[in-house]
Amino acid sequence: MTELTLPARKPARPFFSSGPCAKPPGWSPDKLATEVLGRSHRSKLGKARLQHCIDLMREVLGVPASHRIGIVPASDTGAVEMAMWSLLGPRLVTTLAWESFGEGWVTDAVKQLKLDPTVIRADYGALPDLAQVDWSHDVIFTWNGTTSGVRVPDGEWIAADREGLAIADATSAVFAQAIDWDKVDVLTFSWQKVLGGEGAHGVLILGPRAVERLETHTPAWPMPKLFRMTKGGKLIEGIFTGETINTPSMLAVEDAIFALEWGKSIGGLTAMQARANANAVALDAIVSARDWLGHLAVDPASRSNTSVCLTVAGADADFIKKFAKLLEEQDAAYDIAGYRDAPPGLRVWCGATVDTADIEALGPWLDWAWNSLRG
Ligand SMILES: Cc1ncc(COP(=O)(O)O)c(C=O)c1O
Repeated sequence: MTELTLPARKPARPFFSSGPCAKPPGWSPDKLATEVLGRSHRSKLGKARLQHCIDLMREVLGVPASHRIGIVPASDTGAVEMAMWSLLGPRLVTTLAWESFGEGWVTDAVKQLKLDPTVIRADYGALPDLAQVDWSHDVIFTWNGTTSGVRVPDGEWIAADREGLAIADATSAVFAQAIDWDKVDVLTFSWQKVLGGEGAHGVLILGPRAVERLETHTPAWPMPKLFRMTKGGKLIEGIFTGETINTPSMLAVEDAIFALEWGKSIGGLTAMQARANANAVALDAIVSARDWLGHLAVDPASRSNTSVCLTVAGADADFIKKFAKLLEEQDAAYDIAGYRDAPPGLRVWCGATVDTADIEALGPWLDWAWNSLRG
C-alpha cells in the first residue's frame, strides 16, 4: 500500500466533517472576544453580546423583522424539539423524510407525541413528491437532508396560503441555500454547521403564525422548562432578545459572533452561498472525472451544496471505514465517511467555511486511497 506515491499537496485545512464543520478561514481561539467570560449572561454585557449575536444572524441571513430569532438549548435538535412539542397538536401533521434526520422527526411525531402523522418518504438519494403535501396540515421537513445530500430545491412547493405551519429543520442549509422566509413559520439551525461554530446551542426562528399558535394553543403533554416559550398565554419575548431560557455557553456565543463577522467581512450571505456553490462544483468535477465515484443525490436540482454524499463503486461499510481511516492517518481528509445510517459512501462538507482549493486538493488523495485499498 505504501508503495503508491502520495500526492504532492495536501488540503491545507483537511476539515471536511459535516458537523461540527471547519472553522471559518483565519479562525483561532485567541481571536475570540473574551470580556464576557466569567460574567453573568444576564449582565448588561452578557445580554448585549447575545443580542449582538441575534442581530448579526438577522443581518447576515436576511431574516425579516416579522420573524423572531431565539438562541435555545441543545443545538439544532433542541430547537426542533422545542418547536414540535410546543406547536403540534391542534392540526393534522405531515412529516417528510428522505434520510436519517427527517426520519428522527417522524419518530418523535409518531412514538413520542403520538400524533399519527401522514408520513411522506423517499429513499436515500431521492426527494419525495413534494406536491403531495396537504398544506392544511402542519408540515415538518429538513431543508437539506444532511445524511443523503438531498435538499429541497427552493420554497416554491410551500403553499403561500397554507393553513398549517411550515416547520423547517434547516441546520445544514442556512447560509448556503436561499431561504424563502415568507414560506417558513419555523426554521431551526445550529452554529456548528455552515458557520463552523460550536454545538450546544440551537437557533429557533419563529414567524408570526408560529407565535400566534404558541399564544393560542396549550400542548396536551407536559412541557419541560427547557421548551417553554410562553407564560400566561403570552410569548416570552425575552427569549428572542437574548434572555436565554437557561445559561448559555458565552464562549460558543463569541465563537458564533466571530463566524458571523467573518461571513459579513467576505460579503455576507451571497458570498457565503457562492463559496458553498464553488466547493460543490469543485467536488462535482472530481466525481465526474472518476468512474468509481458517483453522487448519492441523483437529481442535480435537489443535490446539496453543503453535505455532498458520494457513492463509491462496490464499497461496503468496512471499505469506507478503511478508506476514511487511510486519509485521516495522512492528515489529508478528516471525517469523510458517510453517516452511519446512510448507504456506505463518502460525505464531503462543502459549506462556506471550507476553501475550494482544499476540495480541489482532495481529488488525488481520493485516488490514492482508492488505489491503496484496491491494490
Ligand atoms: C438535518 C439535521 N438535523 C438535526 C441535526 C442534529 O443537529 P445537532 O447535533 O446540532 O442537534 C443534524 C446534525 O447533523 C442535521 O444534519
